[in-house]
Amino acid sequence: GIALPTAIYPDRRNSGGLNLAVATERSTVGQAVASLDQSPVHVPPSTASSPAVEVVCPANLLRTVGRWHPATAADVDQAATKASQAFDRWAARPVDDRAACLERAADGIEAQRHALMALLIREAGKTHADAQAEVREAADFCRYYAARARELMQAPTPLPGYTGETNSLRHAPRGVMVCISPWNFPLAIFAGQVAAALVAGNCVLAKPAEQTTLVAHAMCTILRDAGVPTQALHLLPGTGEHLGPALLAIPQLAGVLFTGSMDTARLINQQLAQRPGPIVPLIAETGGLNAMIVDSSALPEQVVKDSLQSAFGSAGQRCSALRVLCLQDDIAERVLPMLAGAMQELIVGDPAEIATDVGPVIDTEALDRLRQHRERMDREARRIAAVPSANAAGHFFPPVAYEVDSLEHIGGEVFGPVLHVLRYDDERLDELVDAINRLGYGLTLGVHSRIESTWRRVSERARVGNCYINRNMVGAVVGVQPFGGEGLSGTGPKAGGPDYLRRLTTERTLTINT
Ligand code: SER
Repeated sequence: GIALPTAIYPDRRNSGGLNLAVATERSTVGQAVASLDQSPVHVPPSTASSPAVEVVCPANLLRTVGRWHPATAADVDQAATKASQAFDRWAARPVDDRAACLERAADGIEAQRHALMALLIREAGKTHADAQAEVREAADFCRYYAARARELMQAPTPLPGYTGETNSLRHAPRGVMVCISPWNFPLAIFAGQVAAALVAGNCVLAKPAEQTTLVAHAMCTILRDAGVPTQALHLLPGTGEHLGPALLAIPQLAGVLFTGSMDTARLINQQLAQRPGPIVPLIAETGGLNAMIVDSSALPEQVVKDSLQSAFGSAGQRCSALRVLCLQDDIAERVLPMLAGAMQELIVGDPAEIATDVGPVIDTEALDRLRQHRERMDREARRIAAVPSANAAGHFFPPVAYEVDSLEHIGGEVFGPVLHVLRYDDERLDELVDAINRLGYGLTLGVHSRIESTWRRVSERARVGNCYINRNMVGAVVGVQPFGGEGLSGTGPKAGGPDYLRRLTTERTLTINT
């Protein structure tokens, strides 16, 4: 794992992993995939009535990964009642107990690494490397929030006061929280939201993206086995269209954690605004139209390597992914041929094969949207490079890159392996940063420059949550690069950052006159 400066975080280390370069370690993942193929997962229904939904592998639509049963609005109401009845007892448990549950869950995640990776590969179409990174991130979230909860909630913070008066401030649990998580990090983001809400003493109704219910179910089992009471955590599988309104209408609602699109975040916000009673806080992590700015002092080879990783890793299905590579005129002619050549080397295919660089996109809807964008770009922009061959067995969209005339030309966030390239003139660097800011997103930004005054200027001018200098711009590490954006990219606080738990609690001041 990554060693952390002990002065800042004496309490934990980030999770380690398998060495995928070693054939014997790799083969253990292959065995887990084979055993999943032999025995698909069946998540039993919470109520007898609902018919099962079949999960097919996005890399091979003929392969069944498992099945689950959608929850109903009545299930949501019942879960809310049970969670609210369980709240007082869970909230009253010493924070150490709740934190220990999360630490055991982190151990559980690591102990089940192979099975979780197999599920991520088959249900979410993750490559081995992405699946492994996600397992580590999920464990990191559990341990990190456990440590932060102990720090924040162990004892009240003493405050100054008049003579004879004692003042203190403490952070108390809020109540029943709804967690709505996406399919692109079905384990890590699901685990992060749920673990944070639980360790702060809240009870949780969790609605994972319907595409990746099996992974979410596996994580819930790990949390329960680690000691989280059954009634404190309820998994409500189904689509947002069906369950969203019921979840947001429960009278017990004390907060919503959402990661997904800005359009959905807006719908949630509108529905919350219609509720009678107290105003319910919403924490939303949404999308980005992320740029990397490259000046002529940059190292072209590194720019190409970092661009490929940032734009096409995870098949571009990361909110942090690079969408527009801004090349200063002088370096563009050197970078573009190298980029086109390197793209030809990418292997698009079944993520169960270790050599695969780019797996499938999640479903037909995603594929259709990407194809529409590609058609428009083919008409309106210059194609720089495309990866040949698409495996027809699944939802494959081979990476492609276009040169565009302006940022507006892209037309908003494109969630997949499409890279846009924009040339800029050195004299107009500030204007470029202003134009990026004007798009309204504010998630990640990459800068490649060996001139310190340049990268400092850009990083100070850019309104983004995560700015990366001379490296790739994806894969924020819990507790190391707290992650999250501003503007159209979200409300904050940052996931895996020191302030996340504060927003999941309510503050209480106690004044004692003696
Ligand atoms: N946290 C992820 C990253 O940094 C995106 O969700 O890439």
